Amino acid sequence: MGVPDDTAPAPALHPFLRDRWSTRLFDANHRLDDGALAQLLEAARWSPSAGNSQPWAFLVTRRGDAAHRRFVATLSRGNTSWVPAASAVLVSAYRAGDDEDPSLTYSDYAAYDLGQSVAHLTVQAQSMGLHVHQFAGFDHDAVTEAFAVPPAWKVTTGIAIGRRLDDISGADPSLREREERPRVRKEFAEFVFGERFGEPVVLD
Ligand SMILES: Cc1cc2nc3c(=O)[nH]c(=O)nc-3n(C[C@H](O)[C@H](O)[C@H](O)COP(=O)(O)O)c2cc1C
Repeated sequence: MGVPDDTAPAPALHPFLRDRWSTRLFDANHRLDDGALAQLLEAARWSPSAGNSQPWAFLVTRRGDAAHRRFVATLSRGNTSWVPAASAVLVSAYRAGDDEDPSLTYSDYAAYDLGQSVAHLTVQAQSMGLHVHQFAGFDHDAVTEAFAVPPAWKVTTGIAIGRRLDDISGADPSLREREERPRVRKEFAEFVFGERFGEPVVLD
């Protein structure tokens, strides 16, 4: 049961899933063209959602443009060392409330649906040789204000997209060190259950 090595995904996983990780070493010379960006957004667009509600929205910022500068100014300290080098940063939001009355919940599954749409985008990016690193470390209120996000919408994550540096030898040593840390995951027994919640299922 479980994966044999908890520092790397099982080799039999599809390579787009197996080889994905959240790099912090983006190539600041790489440009993401609008065609590629549209393909990524198309992947998000075609993901499933409760009642086909599609309760997601994305703000597009590209390194060098005014929106990107506005977004980068809201980053938490820990994320300023790597996010700005990514070719583009999307800001994700989901429809949390009703337009008329933002205090009414729009859908119990809106956050789930947004997450799934980003997961699809991530796999599409991997298939295109791109890296994605999602992050929550930025000032959500400042972004809401700076981008005029309506009250019914909840700004959720930043999605840094780009190419990873081919040669990481010149990169910031602390970023390299984080990049090389073993990746760990819970064992199946901690989250895959059978007869009762908490009781691990037996898989042959
Ligand atoms: C909702 C969310 C918020 C995250 N916030 C940050 C963040 O602020 N800074 C950061 O460096 N990584 C952030 N991450 C990346 C996670 O730390 C990363 O996905 C996790 O450690 C697993 O590593 P992996 O994606 O390389 O497998 C976030 C990921 C998610 C999904």
